Amino acid sequence: MKLAVSGKGGVGKTTIAAALVKSFARTHRLVCAIDGDPDACLAAAIGIPGAVAARLKPAAEMKELIRARSGGGPIYLLNPRVDDVVENHALRLGNIRFLRLGEVKKGNSECYCRENTFLRALVSALLLDQGEVVIMDMGAGIEHLTRGTAAGVDLMLVVVEPSLNSINTARHIRKMAEELGIKKTMSIGNKIRSERERKFIAESFQNGELLGFVGYDESIWESAMGEMDVKAGEKLQSEVEALKKKIL
Ligand SMILES: Nc1ncnc2c1ncn2[C@@H]1O[C@H](COP(=O)(O)OP(=O)(O)OP(=O)(O)O)[C@@H](O)[C@H]1O
Ligand SMILES: [Mg+2]
Repeated sequence: MKLAVSGKGGVGKTTIAAALVKSFARTHRLVCAIDGDPDACLAAAIGIPGAVAARLKPAAEMKELIRARSGGGPIYLLNPRVDDVVENHALRLGNIRFLRLGEVKKGNSECYCRENTFLRALVSALLLDQGEVVIMDMGAGIEHLTRGTAAGVDLMLVVVEPSLNSINTARHIRKMAEELGIKKTMSIGNKIRSERERKFIAESFQNGELLGFVGYDESIWESAMGEMDVKAGEKLQSEVEALKKKIL
């Protein structure tokens, strides 16, 4: 199963993606956590130390590998071999594999196509046996959503908070996801502090468009100031656990 998590900037995509990664890692054989946000921070949220994550080269920057796999010359293969990239290049944390996609620089069009083709092949070829899950943290907004990164996504999760702006972004994303051929899109209402906020979000979506809610978690908010308290995020984690059951 391949899940992508998107939404407006700051709504909690990385927080929810990380909680899903941890939750699926407990019940599934292998979880591939992909940071598709050029402004990466999923690693820290799943417990990979910053110094370790910093040494991981984003897939888009694996120049030699991309050249070698896409044929080297001016004409490149549209189907580069990528099956070993996760095993050889991803960071390992128990049964979690972590990969950063990085940013395809648009300056040089020849490189741009080659790198994009590689990323698309990589994302669409990722595992997908029974018991394996891919969770991708997309960047804010919709500009990172391309045919490449959307390849084979089974469910697009769009995180919203109780604000009109984030709900409008969710509508754009839903439309774009449809155009990209993503099978299903569902929203998650995050940072809920009151019944009024819950109702506001519930009324903003049609039947079947809303997966559920995650409450505002003071301990998560405070942990953003520095060291995480061991109990931080326990409430959020258990709410995400319930969402996972619905996803399954
Ligand atoms: N349910 C929640 N309760 C309290 N704080 C939350 C909750 N969800 C997220 N946060 C906090 O909100 C901030 C933004 O969260 P996060 O980084 O996950 O958002 P994002 O959508 O990934 O942002 P970006 O668009 O920058 O990638 C963080 O400080 C995070 O700790
Ligand atoms: Mg983020």
